[in-house]
Amino acid sequence: MTEHLHPARLAIIVPTFNEAQNVGLLVDLVDKALPGVAWELVFVDDNSPDGTAENVRNLAQADPRVRILHRFGRRGLSSACVEGILATSAPFVAIMDADLQHDETQLNAMFERLSAGDVDLVVGSRYVEGGGMGEWSANRVKMSQFATKLALRLTKTPVSDPMSGFMMMRRDAFMRSLPHLSTVGFKILLDILASAPTPLRVAEVPYTFRTRQHGESKLDSLVLWEYVQLLMDKMVGHLIPVRFLSFAMVGGFGVVVHFAILTTLFKAFNTSFSTAQTCATLVAITSNFLLNNMFTYRDQRLTGWRLLRGWVSFNLVCAFGAAANIGVADWLFAHRSYWALSALAGIMVSVVWNYVMSAFFTWKK
Ligand code: GDD
Ligand code: MN
Repeated sequence: MTEHLHPARLAIIVPTFNEAQNVGLLVDLVDKALPGVAWELVFVDDNSPDGTAENVRNLAQADPRVRILHRFGRRGLSSACVEGILATSAPFVAIMDADLQHDETQLNAMFERLSAGDVDLVVGSRYVEGGGMGEWSANRVKMSQFATKLALRLTKTPVSDPMSGFMMMRRDAFMRSLPHLSTVGFKILLDILASAPTPLRVAEVPYTFRTRQHGESKLDSLVLWEYVQLLMDKMVGHLIPVRFLSFAMVGGFGVVVHFAILTTLFKAFNTSFSTAQTCATLVAITSNFLLNNMFTYRDQRLTGWRLLRGWVSFNLVCAFGAAANIGVADWLFAHRSYWALSALAGIMVSVVWNYVMSAFFTWKK
């Protein structure tokens, strides 16, 4: 085996989160699937609690074609893939799941197709002749088809499976998309296709999605929300940052929470207005904090002590935000602005303030 003495032509980027039992199997399968190709495997692990990174390190000690990029305090499939691609010098890069659900025996065909030089990207597709969904529930198939329909409005190239997580591409083509990527959520292929300044030349190879043997899927309802964020970013991201939209939506929900608590305490339980208002404010700030931590900052979620510290700093940020709100609204009203407009301006100022300051102090990187 001398291939590893040559610089890699093909880098296979594998995002991992809790895949300790799968990584060794994947290395063996890839090795069998790519005889005669100078490949390297770059695992990008988000500090999995099950020790995936440690297993990869052991594999790398036995085979220098195996590499690890270990991220800390971060989460995200798409961003893991992007950083993996940026960590290799190989002219061709593939993205593949660690859980053996993608069919590695197609890698060689994909590599040959790409080497012909007339396409930028080869998609492993479940929807072309010869491909399949494997054992997916009818519900998940339906959801996937609906998400695919939405996605096709954004891609500049029609592909049968823009939601696929299995692909191979030329590095130079990826580099053209790079400055425009959203890198939020799970759908890196869709992101790359929609971000390309000129349409990519795409070919497809069929594969059948296998059933997972070890570990579990990380696709949950929050991933759906990230998908919505990706779509929004692609549509309006050049005007408004999607994180801000998410923050403002949480803030809007906070108003609902505030009024729910206020009316319950003040009307139903006859507390004094000021007590009811204080409780409502505290609960609304706390729920905003937790929702933002869950949805707006999912990729850098605070936990443990940092959660508590974040909550304290978020309260401080919001206290100054409220002061700015009242100050601006008062000033405008005193200068003869219409009362509702004054209030609205105050709210806008405090939302922007809270967003910017909490990005600095609460969810600082
Ligand atoms: N580094 C990192 N960080 N890796 C992650 C994260 C994360 O936050 N979340 C998931 N992964 C890794 C998993 O360990 C796995 O190797 C791969 O990303 C896919 O995650 P799964 O949880 O197995 O997703 P899935 O099987 O439900 O969906 C996959 O297949 C679909 C169909 O091709 C994904 O690739 C989807 O994007 C794809 O649409
Ligand atoms: Mn999977």
